[in-house]
Amino acid sequence: MSQNYSKLIKQAFPEPVVQLVMQAGNLARSMSYGIYLVGGAVRDLLLERKNEDIDIMIEGDAIGFAELLAQTLKTGITSYKKFGTATLKAGSYEIDFATCRSETYSRPGALPSVKPGDITADLFRRDFTINALALCIAPGKFGELIDLYNGRQDIENKLIRVLHSESFTDDATRIMRAIRYEQRLDFEIETKTAKLLTRDLDMLDRISGDRLRKEVSLWFGEPEPARIIHRADQLAVLQKLHRHLHWNYDVNEAFSSAGNHAKPASAVQLYYCLLVYNLKQSELDELLRRLNIHRGKLGDLCRQTINLKTRLGLMGDREIKRADIYSLLKDFSPPAIRANALYHTSRRMRAYLDLYLDKLRFTKTLLNGRDLVKMGIPEGRLIGAVLQDLLAAKLNGEVKTRLGEERLARSIISRLSDPGMDH
Ligand code: CTP
Repeated sequence: MSQNYSKLIKQAFPEPVVQLVMQAGNLARSMSYGIYLVGGAVRDLLLERKNEDIDIMIEGDAIGFAELLAQTLKTGITSYKKFGTATLKAGSYEIDFATCRSETYSRPGALPSVKPGDITADLFRRDFTINALALCIAPGKFGELIDLYNGRQDIENKLIRVLHSESFTDDATRIMRAIRYEQRLDFEIETKTAKLLTRDLDMLDRISGDRLRKEVSLWFGEPEPARIIHRADQLAVLQKLHRHLHWNYDVNEAFSSAGNHAKPASAVQLYYCLLVYNLKQSELDELLRRLNIHRGKLGDLCRQTINLKTRLGLMGDREIKRADIYSLLKDFSPPAIRANALYHTSRRMRAYLDLYLDKLRFTKTLLNGRDLVKMGIPEGRLIGAVLQDLLAAKLNGEVKTRLGEERLARSIISRLSDPGMDH
């Protein structure tokens, strides 16, 4: 039974977005172009999930079309000539326009060769049935669903299904996408698709490091990466990233708690640190090379995670003064420390790491260098040494007030400048 979704479109999006979509439909008709909402926007519309990224496919020149639409609406536009796409904004919504195209793959793992096509060809190039739905937005046909692969039924049955048996061979990143959608939507990878996924696991070896890393980062941008890591382990996808990556109870605990500790902006970094924590140094280097992150900040954070794990391993489970906790950790970045805090088996060490992250790292002395100069200390290295001693005393709770710091500063200076002292 064909169903019209015009009402759903009008309910799902805010009024300015609905207006934009309808105006786009009118303009397309006047140019004799077919025009469709596609992909995630349609999937999420049917699922009644909010999605602020709207993809519109045009059977015609998308950039030229979007520029004309922007002129008509007197709104700004960003065009990406290289990709043949253009983006308009309506509040927090981003509406992307692209030309319908067909894609062919010269060899597994290669990027596809692309040529313009109609909506049927465009839907055929897509990853899963739930993402291969289109809604016509031209007047007269507004809200008509194009469902060539039973995507609507798969949405109802909560299934992730590829369109054809060579889908993962064409593009093995879809293996990682399948897991992401399955866990995000609480769907299940359909039986035959799961078999194809297993058959084609080795195709992941042909995917470039940059593309693999992009998919891993998308995993870590999901609300529950713990579930994704578990599933990726079950399907042996995790081991395609590195043979020594595994899910276990501790990994699950660390990943599940991470969300409480990281702001969304730094969560992805923390999940990378958690991912690598159980690797040895040499294994980490292999993984970083595979994901092409051996240089740059992310690689550095991963290396810090393992370095700190090694340092803490040598220290055992003993009592440490706050100033010593500070100097142990001050050169490590918060995600690397947090990863160690989430995994460490000693309750005392975990508490030390938390204490540093929550409190000690923000501790500052009341006196600064300029105050010390005013007290008569010559500018230079001595100031740094005194400030360091003052901070240690403050961390250990030995001074609390400005007066206390001044007294301590004087006594440190007299000690440091006492010729009898060995410095
Ligand atoms: N797509 C695909 N194969 C890929 C990547 C993308 O077929 N390897 C298609 C899918 O139809 C997908 C669309 O391109 O729906 C847009 O891709 P993307 O923006 O990554 O996904 P969304 O569907 O928008 O989903 P979300 O952003 O929610 O992950």
